[in-house]
Amino acid sequence: MPVLSPVELFTPRLKLRWMDERDVDAHFAVFSDPDVTRYWSSGPWTSLEQAREHIAAAQAAYADGSGMRLGAELIGTGKLIGSVSLHRFVDASRRCEVGYALARVHWGGGYVSEALRALLNYGFTALDLNRIEADVDPRNGASARVLEKLGFQREGYMPERWIVQGEPADTVYYGLLRRHWKG
Ligand SMILES: CC(C)(COP(=O)(O)OP(=O)(O)OC[C@H]1O[C@@H](n2cnc3c(N)ncnc32)[C@H](O)[C@@H]1OP(=O)(O)O)[C@@H](O)C(=O)NCCC(=O)NCCS
Repeated sequence: MPVLSPVELFTPRLKLRWMDERDVDAHFAVFSDPDVTRYWSSGPWTSLEQAREHIAAAQAAYADGSGMRLGAELIGTGKLIGSVSLHRFVDASRRCEVGYALARVHWGGGYVSEALRALLNYGFTALDLNRIEADVDPRNGASARVLEKLGFQREGYMPERWIVQGEPADTVYYGLLRRHWKG
């Protein structure tokens, strides 16, 4: 697993940073929205405790190098509007998965594309990754579009890979190689 150090990444409109206790309310606001979790592998959160536990798990992952979830904070207001992550590292193959979620009110503003450009750049340079993957529900058009804009290739289709609240959900698998990254 990579050695992760507390990092801050800046984009024109966002500061990406490690998350902590101050983010519980804003993180809960994002993941308690059924629109946000519509294509997620679990349902919307119903208690603040879930946000607290999720942030604690992120902190444990920083410590053991198994994942980095960065809060996306609007520069200027300091408001946390979502988060992006690199996780499921496979060291020997220098690869991992990417994840992202944004508060509904901010969708369509290009924020996640902007955040991911900085995160992927960090992954391919500072973390020396060779490949980054994403698991997307085929109905999640916005997510697929974000990945394709960044140069991810659609590589595979896995029917009924997930069962979420009793409903089977397919996966489209995306991958981006470092040599195809236009950072
Ligand atoms: C997916 C998500 C992260 C996108 O964030 P965002 O900041 O709105 O994304 P961007 O504005 O950078 O780009 C969205 C792109 O998708 C397009 N889009 C939006 N809805 C779409 C749809 N239903 N079908 C196809 N494209 C769509 C937008 O037009 C835009 O493309 P453009 O820049 O060419 O116009 C956001 O919708 C979200 O948080 N969803 C819930 C969590 C989630 O699904 N995470 C991904 C799990 S794999």
